[in-house]
Amino acid sequence: MKGIVLAGGLGSRLNPLTKVTNKHLLPVYNKPMIFYPIETLVKGGIKDVLLVTGGTSSGDFLRLLGNGKSLGLRSLHYAYQEGEGGIAHALGLAEHFVDGARSIVILGDNILEEDIGPYIEKFKLQESGARILLKKVADPSRFGVAEIQNGKVARIVEKPARPKTFYAVTGVYMYDGNVFEIVKKLKPSHRGELEITDVNNAYVKKGQMEYDILKGFWTDAGTFDSLLRANQLASRASEKKS
Ligand code: DAU
Repeated sequence: MKGIVLAGGLGSRLNPLTKVTNKHLLPVYNKPMIFYPIETLVKGGIKDVLLVTGGTSSGDFLRLLGNGKSLGLRSLHYAYQEGEGGIAHALGLAEHFVDGARSIVILGDNILEEDIGPYIEKFKLQESGARILLKKVADPSRFGVAEIQNGKVARIVEKPARPKTFYAVTGVYMYDGNVFEIVKKLKPSHRGELEITDVNNAYVKKGQMEYDILKGFWTDAGTFDSLLRANQLASRASEKKS
């Protein structure tokens, strides 16, 4: 299975931290943010990764990560996203890399404690479709929110004002080879982006969306508060290990 790390976008919510560099190159405790999602994939057994990035500091990713060997990858490929067309737009750039296989996508600002290997193994046993990882959070309206009925995802709503559950859809998505056909049919949302939630809802509608609920900590790092939280969680996790 191939891995895709999405690190495009402008990170405008972190201005002025992101004025001269890409959000995913900012420090989270003792490492650049982008190390965390790559290490999550490596720990889960993913060896071949495409990193989608953009903006003016995209060359810095090459300087930082090189061929990915030092992080445990077999191969690291790069794609360049022009503009900020949304998460699903960035994913669309991975079509040739994935070449019809299954893929696991992780957002470049997502930091997870758990080994996701067991969830990847469950996805491999699925005949087809998609699988997402959910996490109960205190502030669901910042995220895609999953509504569950009879053990199935019934609907995902992107940043609802009045969330119906506390289950945030984390930025880890597993897809079969059909995902790129879905991406091609998407229309931009009211914020002018191709939304990953629309991709996920297409699988929900087909009855092909499975999920797991994360047990360990999870956070994004795209706002000042969540970046601070990411630093605190990463520092505690590193203390626990030593
Ligand atoms: O973190 C999980 C959440 O991520 C999900 O719950 C939401 O459903 C999903 O839409 C997303 O929400 P955000 O508003 O946090 O997404 P954001 O625009 O901050 O982008 C998250 C990452 O996606 C970012 O760190 C890099 C990548 N990205 C984003 C955009 C807009 C790209 O690669 N290209 C893009 O054009």
